[in-house]
Amino acid sequence: MSNHYDWLIHNAKLATFDHQNTAYGETRDTSVGVRDGRIELLPKQGFTAATADHRIDADGKWLTPGLIDCHTHLVFGGNRANEFEWRLQGDSYESIAARGGGIVSTVAATRGVSEAQLFDQSAPRLERLLQEGVTTVEIKSGYGLSTEHEIKMLKVARALGDAYPVTVKTTFLGAHAVPVEFAKQANGKQHYIDYVCNTMLPEIAALGLADAVDVFCEGIGFSSDQCEQVFLAAHAHKLPIKGHVEQLSNLGGAVMAAQHKALSVDHVEYLALADVPKLIDTVAVLLPAAYYFLHEQQKPPVEAFRQHGVAMAVATDLNPGTAPLASLLTAMNQSCVLFGLTPEEALMGTTKQAAKALGLATKGRLHDGMDADLALWDIQHLAELSYSINFHRPTAIWQDGNLVSH
Ligand code: NIG
Ligand code: FE
Repeated sequence: MSNHYDWLIHNAKLATFDHQNTAYGETRDTSVGVRDGRIELLPKQGFTAATADHRIDADGKWLTPGLIDCHTHLVFGGNRANEFEWRLQGDSYESIAARGGGIVSTVAATRGVSEAQLFDQSAPRLERLLQEGVTTVEIKSGYGLSTEHEIKMLKVARALGDAYPVTVKTTFLGAHAVPVEFAKQANGKQHYIDYVCNTMLPEIAALGLADAVDVFCEGIGFSSDQCEQVFLAAHAHKLPIKGHVEQLSNLGGAVMAAQHKALSVDHVEYLALADVPKLIDTVAVLLPAAYYFLHEQQKPPVEAFRQHGVAMAVATDLNPGTAPLASLLTAMNQSCVLFGLTPEEALMGTTKQAAKALGLATKGRLHDGMDADLALWDIQHLAELSYSINFHRPTAIWQDGNLVSH
């Protein structure tokens, strides 16, 4: 094996998350070689013998995996500042949705713009995430709710991945809300779910536009049975699944999703304690910005997740209705302050565990052979990333082996 690299990063502290007894798996005296988009860890001797096109003396800075935002709805038209004003006058998220606001008002705004306009409206939100060291982002559809407009959203998500230095994983969220044209029909919810399963999903799967399939299992969304129908259809198309579950009430969606081998169960504030052990093979994605923005009171069962070894990821949920937040570091801060995660759990939640929530085996950790998605931070302690709000940007970011700047 040649010992020539594209990049050699030395004199950094590495967050490997590996050593049981060392916080963050802190590793010193090990350099990182980057070649062909992959990393290799080089102990001291390896570094002395190695050559490289570019050498970086990190001067004691911290090197982490590139951050992963594993749950966003960042492609959407318009905004919902008007509903924010209504909520501050006493309206609730659910009552606004019940009278035709909420998700379906963003559906109208998203249907009303062209693919190019949707790209232009969404790009600045992605740029904000990237500036903080995000190198992988999941983007959901779910504001089109027709074959044409769901495809438009997913194409915009893919185009963003082509235009920016980021890996985009797309998720088809047709089962997000009932669109108006179905809502006025008798039994419209079920007819719409049939349309999602029998028409939209097959077309979107055939176009290769979705990497996973998601649902909104909730009173204002769909029942557990309807979500299960979507999961079965997804599996028939060989697509992995995930779910918005137990956000505002408990419909049993998390356990049902876990039984169908979901990559992740997201929100889970209303999860019953007795159900926590059933989530051991999936990832609980915590979304503190939505909890904060809706002024929710019910917290996810973090201590029980810890006790039972359920992996916890942290994401922004970036969306116009419940989480207008384009900062993954702020979501980490919120996960600590509001949900009681440790800063180490929060960082693992946006790297190692977020990769797991997206089914990405080669991302989220600093190991031989992992993808060269890296962020270098000029901080003393990694807890600073979760501690302060809007203080930090990486001093260098590599994505897919290339140095990127924002
Ligand atoms: O993750 N829960 C459903 N979906 C989003 C909210 C979408 C919206 O209100 O526009 C969420 O919170
Ligand atoms: Fe969401």
